[in-house]
Amino acid sequence: MILFNGVEKKYPGEVTGLDSISVRIEDGEFVFLVGPSGAGKTTLLKLLIREIIPTSGTVCIDDWEINKLSSRQLPLLRRKVGFVFQDFKLLMDRTIFENIAVSLEILGKGSSEIKERVYEVMKIVHLEEKSNYFPKQLSFGEQQRVAIGRAIAGSARILLADEPTGNLDPKTSWEILKIINDINKLGTTVLMATHNVDIVNSLKKRVLVIEKGKIVKDTKKSKYAK
Ligand SMILES: Nc1ncnc2c1ncn2[C@@H]1O[C@H](COP(=O)(O)OP(=O)(O)OP(=O)(O)O)[C@@H](O)[C@H]1O
Ligand SMILES: [Mg+2]
Repeated sequence: MILFNGVEKKYPGEVTGLDSISVRIEDGEFVFLVGPSGAGKTTLLKLLIREIIPTSGTVCIDDWEINKLSSRQLPLLRRKVGFVFQDFKLLMDRTIFENIAVSLEILGKGSSEIKERVYEVMKIVHLEEKSNYFPKQLSFGEQQRVAIGRAIAGSARILLADEPTGNLDPKTSWEILKIINDINKLGTTVLMATHNVDIVNSLKKRVLVIEKGKIVKDTKKSKYAK
């Protein structure tokens, strides 16, 4: 369960990132975050991995208050919450296998467990044929799939995706969406910020509309008219 309670985020110079947001997201939900550029979507996602901390209010995942976690608990948070941002940074001098394995090495997993899990993940993102390729040998959409694989490899229960289809053509965007939807069907909670109205309208998931730092609409299984 994800809970934002009266969350405000101000950036330097009194710029509003989020303004008094309260929302609850249950385990296993798929939620789209939509709204104009500068509305606060990325801010909301970054609060969940403690890349930034709220100016006031609380952000909780289950019984953890994110801004109160100790430095020891932080790796556990990163394990629970996988994220894919638009500027996914793959390690260019490592293969696809190694890029996905990295997130498991950080968790201190043994090599046979890593191998097993990486192959499992490569199947989910449909890259099992390309395990020995390097990122520059892949298309942009395939690279995005590696980033998704890396995000879920540690068995993340929550997947945050910030415009994962931002630079992709429509066909590739749908492939990515299908993978994210499959990951959700396996039980992972998904929060996805997007400007892609077609995708939002077709999937009929919960939609949070954010404008000027506020949630102005929260619709279940509904369409979103821009
Ligand atoms: N690091 C920062 N320093 C100062 N202001 C910031 C910072 N990050 C975001 N902001 C401001 O906070 C507001 C919300 O930004 P945010 O990136 O969350 O919007 P967004 O909804 O993700 O927009 P987009 O659709 O363009 O990605 C904007 O006014 C933005 O300029
Ligand atoms: Mg953004």
